[in-house]
Amino acid sequence: MKRILVAGGSGLLGGACCVHFSENFETFFSFHDHGVKIKGCNGWKVDLSNERQAQKFVQKVNPDAIINTVALTNLELCEEKPLLAEKVNVETARNTAIAAKDNGSKLIHISTNYVFDGERGNYSEEDTPKAAGVYSCTKIEGDEAVLAVKPEYNIVRTCIFGWNIVPERKNSVSWIYDALSRGQKISALTDQYMNIILANSLAENLELLVNSPKQGIYNISAHGSLSKFELASRVAELYGFDKSLIGKSTLKEFYDKGIFKAKRPRDGSLTIQKFEKEFKVKLPSMDEDLAKFRKLGEQNYLSNFKLASPSRQ
Ligand SMILES: NC(=O)c1ccc[n+]([C@@H]2O[C@H](COP(=O)([O-])OP(=O)(O)OC[C@H]3O[C@@H](n4cnc5c(N)ncnc54)[C@H](OP(=O)(O)O)[C@@H]3O)[C@@H](O)[C@H]2O)c1
Repeated sequence: MKRILVAGGSGLLGGACCVHFSENFETFFSFHDHGVKIKGCNGWKVDLSNERQAQKFVQKVNPDAIINTVALTNLELCEEKPLLAEKVNVETARNTAIAAKDNGSKLIHISTNYVFDGERGNYSEEDTPKAAGVYSCTKIEGDEAVLAVKPEYNIVRTCIFGWNIVPERKNSVSWIYDALSRGQKISALTDQYMNIILANSLAENLELLVNSPKQGIYNISAHGSLSKFELASRVAELYGFDKSLIGKSTLKEFYDKGIFKAKRPRDGSLTIQKFEKEFKVKLPSMDEDLAKFRKLGEQNYLSNFKLASPSRQ
């Protein structure tokens, strides 16, 4: 049985990878601040920004492949603490890549659509990243650090949603779901667009990369770019929530009111044809993935995880 190491198992994507890969792989994961137990997997607390810890961990697990999902994903925190962002988004990427190379393990490093400034949209694997803030800047540096260690490693650019293990962490859809299910009003952006994939669907597609010798950058996301407002309307329709709770807003209003300090791409949509063509698969539509999100919720997906202590983020 192949061994896989998921760096960042306590995160949204890392957790989804652990659940998916544990079906057919011996699955190991790391966490940092949020001690968690995951059904069918073995996990350890590791600070991957520490080169020695990264080396020892990878040597101990000796995986065939590593999926690195570690990141500081809170954009506002990245603006407030750029050194922490550098440490988590760049140092952990470099250390994990070096440890993977020394151990002879394949590496899939997770990146983001936020490496693009969003002025144009529909970004392909060939487009040159352009930073729009500290998060974007450090994620670009992290990708470059990985490719500098070994240009053959995979970088996956994506945008995800799903059920977060750590309740304080939110994503586009969980934020909408939490508010509308409690009858709270939300203000959703009409002028920020992206195509987002359910973390669990991404995990399934990452298995194709794990089992493939293909190298380099791939965009993996769902079909159909939507604004946050359109996304909120789809979530309301799916669950039968009151649509009148969804107000409209613009990026400019959010910047002017200080709701957003970190700059966001206006159109962060990614083209996904390269992955579909090379791997002969059809990636899901956003509606399919929203329906799957609902199904996972009904199946009590989060019961796969047991947080060891109250979260601190
Ligand atoms: N969420 C999104 O909307 C989104 C969109 C596009 C791309 N992405 C990318 O997708 C990937 C996964 O994102 P996500 O939302 O799943 O992330 P997440 O939920 O915020 O989880 C981040 C993970 O990083 C771990 N971590 C933080 N500092 C660490 C350190 N020093 N050493 C080891 N681990 C550390 C965290 O551990 P603890 O929780 O235990 O501290 C956690 O497991 C990232 O590369 C992100 O940039 C995310």
